[in-house]
Amino acid sequence: MIALKVNGEDRQFDGDPEMPLLWYLRDELGLTGTKFGCGVAQCGACTVHLDGEATFSCVTPISLAEGAEVTTIEGLSPDGSHPVQQAWRDLNVAQCGYCQSGQIMRAAALLEEVPQPSDEDIDTVMSQNLCRCGTYPRIRAAIKRVAEGGAE
Ligand code: FES
Ligand code: FES
Repeated sequence: MIALKVNGEDRQFDGDPEMPLLWYLRDELGLTGTKFGCGVAQCGACTVHLDGEATFSCVTPISLAEGAEVTTIEGLSPDGSHPVQQAWRDLNVAQCGYCQSGQIMRAAALLEEVPQPSDEDIDTVMSQNLCRCGTYPRIRAAIKRVAEGGAE
């Protein structure tokens, strides 16, 4: 039995410990805001927080989440008012939207760790998340907006 917390709620899982955390979140809990892109830690669409750290849930066996706190886009804030979500809306960051929950989760983890990230910090960290629509300039602007306090 694997015990974990997801978006603040205690959960238990009794199935295959090797099952990717992403399957658990989407298929067992119905938290479909987290997306499947590549399945091999190359795109970031599946990014969630595992004890506050941005993590590729597609390659994380659920056994690694034992005793951990998992946060998905649904749990980032109760009403979509997290500063990163607000900045994303203010600047209309999303295009098709597919990559965006992963982008937001990675940006939120970055800003938690480095509240005033340099351009280089942003590029290094955010390069782990791909966007086929090329929204990178708006992603960077939104992160800076939060860092400068514009979205709080
Ligand atoms: S689906 Fe996990 S990194 Fe692409
Ligand atoms: S907004 Fe379409 S893939 Fe990023």
